[in-house]
Amino acid sequence: MAKGPAQLRLDRLLSNLGYGSRREVQQLVWAGLVTLDGEVIEDSDQRILIKPDLVTRMIVDDAPLDPPPGLALMMHKPLGVTCSHKELGPLVYKLLPERWRRRDPAISTIGRLDKDTSGLLLMTDDGALLHKIISPRSNVSKRYDVTLDRPLRGDEVELFAAGSLMLEGDDKPLLPAHLDVASDKRAFVTITEGRYHQVRRMFAAVGNHVTALHRDRVGGLALPDDLKAGEYRLLSAADLEKVLEARI
Ligand code: URA
Repeated sequence: MAKGPAQLRLDRLLSNLGYGSRREVQQLVWAGLVTLDGEVIEDSDQRILIKPDLVTRMIVDDAPLDPPPGLALMMHKPLGVTCSHKELGPLVYKLLPERWRRRDPAISTIGRLDKDTSGLLLMTDDGALLHKIISPRSNVSKRYDVTLDRPLRGDEVELFAAGSLMLEGDDKPLLPAHLDVASDKRAFVTITEGRYHQVRRMFAAVGNHVTALHRDRVGGLALPDDLKAGEYRLLSAADLEKVLEARI
């Protein structure tokens, strides 16, 4: 039998979304500040069906409900912010609304971009979705706009496509990658793996140095031109389908 949408008690839903402790949420409810389909909810233990349309149907303290669990978003990651505590600097999560940082399940990045890389970064609170996108079996490609310090030598297209390039310190060659040359110092590289500093190390392996790196595509999803650095947008079902289009 197909599984229906999950249900949660209202107080658990709101507290998991970061609106406060169960007690604080109860107070919001008792103050008449939570409505569903225009009706004030009286009981904080009312069971709520968790569906994406809740954002248009539930109002909390005069504002639409935050996206319910199952959230996925794209961010235009600016330079200088980090995806993990392992690097110094402000975290990408700082660019999300403060309350979203208190959600359970927490929002995490789907893969990472270096502090000095900008571009399309996906985030979700859905562990199954995260694994689906980063799983090697899904073969989701990532495209990077690369600016180089020195002119290309000329053999990079073949070398990257060969599937035999070994990066220093690795014990397995890279899978084939596609290189589109835009000029002598600029190219678009499409990879399906996500090894540590992969693109920078690929160009280091051919005696070059990456001076700017920007991801403009994940799968078939392009970073929208109108999404400025530091901005984010929820992903639609159609966007997610595009992400999972395997292509290289
Ligand atoms: N490759 C890199 O070297 N850095 C990134 O951020 C992503 C891919």
